[in-house]
Amino acid sequence: MDILVAASAGFCEGVERALKMVMNAANEEDAGPIFTYGPLIHNLQVVKTLESLGVRVAESIDDIPVGSRVVIRSHGIGPSDRKQMEERSLKIIDASCMFVIKAQRLIGELYRDGYKILILGLRDHPEIKALRDFVNDEAIIAGSLDELPDFDTPPEKLGVICQTTLNTEFFEKAIARLEKQVPNLRVEYTICDATVKRQQAARDIAGQVDAMIVIGGRHSSNTRKLTDICRDRGVDTYHIETAEELKRGWFLGRDRIGVTAGASTPDWMIEQVIEAIQEFGFKRHQETCDPVSPLEEINEG
Ligand code: F3S
Repeated sequence: MDILVAASAGFCEGVERALKMVMNAANEEDAGPIFTYGPLIHNLQVVKTLESLGVRVAESIDDIPVGSRVVIRSHGIGPSDRKQMEERSLKIIDASCMFVIKAQRLIGELYRDGYKILILGLRDHPEIKALRDFVNDEAIIAGSLDELPDFDTPPEKLGVICQTTLNTEFFEKAIARLEKQVPNLRVEYTICDATVKRQQAARDIAGQVDAMIVIGGRHSSNTRKLTDICRDRGVDTYHIETAEELKRGWFLGRDRIGVTAGASTPDWMIEQVIEAIQEFGFKRHQETCDPVSPLEEINEG
């Protein structure tokens, strides 16, 4: 009885970078309080660890005391939020992911070039809220094929941009449909490399196992997409946040279990889950995850 671990799973470069920036800022002496604008990542356990180091989460810019340090998380922010931060004289530590910055630049270009804009992504996700702000909220949003507009009269020109963690299969189907309707279509492919690799690895592994365990925050959009991808392959899939949630019954009568994790899941949490599954009599089939936590690495300096 084997455990297969996805070849690409867990922390992405953007999340690691954001975490390092916050840890470095938290370790600065006499630099004053530090806030993240929203939870740094959608992982409760990591957010709690940061809290123990004095990093507080602010849900609103108004809640951050004037002159404090504020971290912009990897999802980025729009121009309105940035202006508000500057008006409060906040010291900005910008951990926006480079893939997000690229999408923000491209949506601005489309807007200036007079394109009607369609964003493929989840309307209320922080990354999409920021993108909407770059175009004064003048964009169509579609998070699923059902939400795609049916153009009786297509716009003169349509520019498409995607959430960096979009499901690549949804992207392909959406573009195929739009190409039939809109003659002047400009598509900016802004799905990030980490997402493409993690989704492909999840698809690969889900096709080889009896059940999949997907580790990541309940509110993590990219983790939920990994769960959907595995379920779409017809395999029993369980989305968990921690090893404590595993149930013995999920493993009865199974020969092969697959494990993957969202981009906000540290490697040490993946390791804990693998160890717990081993206690049900399974053996790890391949070594793909670095068991050292980035938090530990950073703490050790
Ligand atoms: Fe960036 Fe993609 Fe990670 S957008 S934060 S590399 S999931």
